[in-house]
Amino acid sequence: MSDVTHGTDHVGTGCPTCDAAGGRLAASGPRLATVKLQARGEDFRIVQLRGQLLVCAQQHGSCCCGWDDKGRMPFDPQALWGDEWERRKIRNRLHLTFTGCLGPCAVGNNALLVLHGRSIWLKDLNQPDLASVVYDWIESMLAAGRILPPPERLKDHVYERFLPPPDHAYEPLVSMAEAFGDGLDRLDPVCLMEVDLRTARHTAEYAGRIIAFCAPSCRKQFLADPSAYLNA
Ligand code: FES
Repeated sequence: MSDVTHGTDHVGTGCPTCDAAGGRLAASGPRLATVKLQARGEDFRIVQLRGQLLVCAQQHGSCCCGWDDKGRMPFDPQALWGDEWERRKIRNRLHLTFTGCLGPCAVGNNALLVLHGRSIWLKDLNQPDLASVVYDWIESMLAAGRILPPPERLKDHVYERFLPPPDHAYEPLVSMAEAFGDGLDRLDPVCLMEVDLRTARHTAEYAGRIIAFCAPSCRKQFLADPSAYLNA
């Protein structure tokens, strides 16, 4: 653990973490892709992801998915989807959300995968082993950086619910060009919570820089496999 205090007050000390040109953290090395947003008059940094998996679940307000008496496979969302999501260490690339009704109730259990800018609908997830198959497919697409055809086991579970987009180029709704930090100067890379590098009690040195954590458990997880938590 380190008791070094990094940030604007640490400029000019020869620290490899803080550069000499105005207190900005070094631009090279490990980082998290983040976007700076304002809410309620405050600045926040939100990690930019590759995608999000939304799973319709009875415990979160579904009307059919997960209902045994309606012929769907009952499941514990955390045990079936959450624990494996954590185990695979993909939190900073893919967010997992349990939802109420997604719409196509008749073909539930349903999930919606948004990945690499595409919406992928999954239906009839009524065998517990399908969760692992879905995650295997997601991980292969994260590694490839593009959408891949579904594996044989999922071919009958994937369908197109949305009409194709109009034929024109992608247009961002707002400009996100503003540069700032590298994410790791303000975020715990494991849980993605805000943490102040200058005052953090739990830190570790990695690739020539100091990384802060909210708790010893996050620090321990990071040190066991740092590359799993750095997405850019
Ligand atoms: S209850 Fe799951 S899609 Fe409607």
